[in-house]
Amino acid sequence: MKIGVLTGGGDCPGLNPAIRAVVTRALDYKYEIIGIKQGWKGLVINDTMPLKLEDVEEIISKGGTILETSRTNPLKKEEEKKKLLENIRKLGIDVLVAIGGDDTLSVAGKLNEMGIKCIGIPKTMDNDIPETDYTFGYDTAVTIAVDAIERLKDTARSHRRVFVFEVMGRHAGWVALQSALAGGADYVFIPEVPLNVEDLCVHLKKLRERGKYYAIVVISEGVEIPFLDEGGKAKKDDFGHALLKEKGVATWLAKEIEKRTGFETRTAIIGHMQRGGPPTTFDRVLATRMGIYAVDLIKNKEFGRMASIKGDKMTSVPLNSIVGKNKIVSAEEYEMVKTFFK
Ligand code: F6P
Repeated sequence: MKIGVLTGGGDCPGLNPAIRAVVTRALDYKYEIIGIKQGWKGLVINDTMPLKLEDVEEIISKGGTILETSRTNPLKKEEEKKKLLENIRKLGIDVLVAIGGDDTLSVAGKLNEMGIKCIGIPKTMDNDIPETDYTFGYDTAVTIAVDAIERLKDTARSHRRVFVFEVMGRHAGWVALQSALAGGADYVFIPEVPLNVEDLCVHLKKLRERGKYYAIVVISEGVEIPFLDEGGKAKKDDFGHALLKEKGVATWLAKEIEKRTGFETRTAIIGHMQRGGPPTTFDRVLATRMGIYAVDLIKNKEFGRMASIKGDKMTSVPLNSIVGKNKIVSAEEYEMVKTFFK
């Protein structure tokens, strides 16, 4: 049995522990493993690397992915799809293990329907994949954001400033919400809830009136601000997602706060700093369990499935069950965090 393993989409802490677990578990069953580089792109251009025990035994603490990654959608162009299928055959791959977010896993689901056996492992710092309680990368991203909030508070308090802290998170506000909750922020904006700047400004004034002269406002990069979204015409990636790198929600919001309240307001944008670095213990363990479970699915011939964690138990769901869906923050979860905005 020959297994090809790849990582696709944005990198996140936990990818290397997952690769390590897949390779190490495969040894138990005497499966051969080949690493596919740069996500699905590696199968289009035939870019691979050997994966032996010595290649993975020291990578549990490393961020990023030793396999590299890309946001290539190999099914978009007929020519690329042909090359991908040809290379899978040439490489003698029996099963593909795709470690990725919704885009990468949707390709795995389609390939599986086309007769290429695939198994999925969910990852993303956004934690927005349905049918799994958690994805690795998320815990590390929130941990880093909370550390940043605590540092910002020192300056905010010393200078009596408002800080608008922008975190990643495209469709779902999990990272913003949990960072705000655990960091003790004063307000949070997430993509799931319509932006209400007036409500924020009333709250900021109330804080000053009760003697708190600084504030931390967390905002998710994916919050909808129609004129910043270029009326839906912003540049898109291979999977049709608007690129948010130049959107600048924090810059816009900070100016708006200053204009409406007169309070000095600064911005801090954490960006990719929260997607790199060593994974937390939680992410190392989750990624390891996911990797082991994925190879066990192969052993049990349960193809076309995604490893998933529900409660504390590993399980699996059909790859197709997550396509085109996002796990988003509910109104109740948002309200719970608002309890602390007094
Ligand atoms: O992978 C998820 C994510 O981190 C989003 O939160 C973010 O919008 C996007 O990736 C950024 O991707 P890139 O690094 O390709 O610009």
